[in-house]
Amino acid sequence: MINNIEILFLLLYYSKELLETVYRLRATLTKLRYLDILRGNERKMKMSYHVGVISGDGIGPEIVAEAKKVLDAVGKKFGHEFEYEDILMGGCSIDATGVPLTDEAINQAKNSDAVLMGSIGGNTATSPWYKLSPELRPEAGLLKLRKSLNLFANLRPAYLYEELKEACPLRDDIIGDGFDMMIMRELTGGLYFGARETKEVDGVMTAVDTLTYNENEIRRIAKRGFDIAMKRRKKVTSVDKANVLDSSRLWRSMVEEVAKDYPQVTYEHMLVDNCAMQLVKDPKQFDVILTENMFGDILSDEASMVTGSIGMLSSASLNDTKFGLYEPSGGSAPDIAGKGIANPIATILSAAMMLRYSFDLDKEADAIEKAVKQVLKEGYRTIDIMPQEEGKKAAVKQVGTKEMGDLIVQHLQ
Ligand SMILES: NC(=O)c1ccc[n+]([C@@H]2O[C@H](COP(=O)([O-])OP(=O)(O)OC[C@H]3O[C@@H](n4cnc5c(N)ncnc54)[C@H](O)[C@@H]3O)[C@@H](O)[C@H]2O)c1
Repeated sequence: MINNIEILFLLLYYSKELLETVYRLRATLTKLRYLDILRGNERKMKMSYHVGVISGDGIGPEIVAEAKKVLDAVGKKFGHEFEYEDILMGGCSIDATGVPLTDEAINQAKNSDAVLMGSIGGNTATSPWYKLSPELRPEAGLLKLRKSLNLFANLRPAYLYEELKEACPLRDDIIGDGFDMMIMRELTGGLYFGARETKEVDGVMTAVDTLTYNENEIRRIAKRGFDIAMKRRKKVTSVDKANVLDSSRLWRSMVEEVAKDYPQVTYEHMLVDNCAMQLVKDPKQFDVILTENMFGDILSDEASMVTGSIGMLSSASLNDTKFGLYEPSGGSAPDIAGKGIANPIATILSAAMMLRYSFDLDKEADAIEKAVKQVLKEGYRTIDIMPQEEGKKAAVKQVGTKEMGDLIVQHLQ
């Protein structure tokens, strides 16, 4: 028989055991928490970034060299290191391997933290690359890369620099103090990827294209759009054609669902036809324009036209990780390749986007953007952004590709 005293001892013994177990558990949890904090800090303080570099064709190698120069200077200033790995794509890959993009190149891109690209392709009328079948031409490499990396979100900023106002076709009273918007376009779904066919129906040739979106495709691009808005002025304009299209009505309801997770962001819906008008009537109202593939294709070209030169336009394609492919919006400009006169600013600004969106280095991205502004303010121009009027030419100084890169490096603060 166990007497009362023994019960008391047993209780004391087990409560001591229990207490020790609780202490051990608490210590383990604390250790885990500290480990987590340490890991978080390590992530934040990561100093070395592995950047895949696709220099490509035409002016590509010239403009990419300047972007790398600026990245290295930023790295030196802010304590980061950028390691580069060259990746072959486009015409140069066709010449070296017979195809525009090899599996090895895809793996190199996949193993990078982000990819910086120049441009690919040649003169479509004269280059032997365009005598090949379409799937072997330079541009097929880019489409394959986008698909392999699941790059579903395309970002194109449209920013009007005060100094380049005269390249803007809009009236001064519409331009005001300039505008700064970001078009976020869905890139892998919608009408361009749906089933299509052309056939004879009752003796009449009939073509069908299908516009399909599922809720997951909409949700992930909407989330990206709101994330980008959080890094900007916190406004999203979601563009659709919900008065006609089912896909747009689903788009609208998914955007509303995602918006609930971003209470700091104000959002509105706008019909695409109205948006096309508003872009030329009052572009200042926009911060992030979030839209599907075809609407985005058209609206991003419209938005970039009102900013002036193609040599100033950066872009990014993102997937649902931090990875991104960053490239200027223009092509390989074979007409000016090798002359040392191409504008490197779009590529340099694409590198700034890489810092901001893939590496979360916002301060560093700001420094590049400010340096670009300052260089323009001081009157330096590449040939494509020279004023057209003779009288105004005297007030600015024309510089080449390398000199523009050097000036931006010198103005980094
Ligand atoms: N993502 C890409 O790599 C991409 C995009 C578009 C076109 N392309 C390819 O590029 C090749 C040429 O195409 P295109 O001539 O129609 O368009 P393009 O953008 O290369 O050139 C159009 C005009 O803009 C000028 N231009 C372009 N970028 C410039 C810069 N950075 N600085 C100064 N001027 C610049 C060119 O000199 C040319 O007069 C084609 O093979 C095309 O398929 C590639």
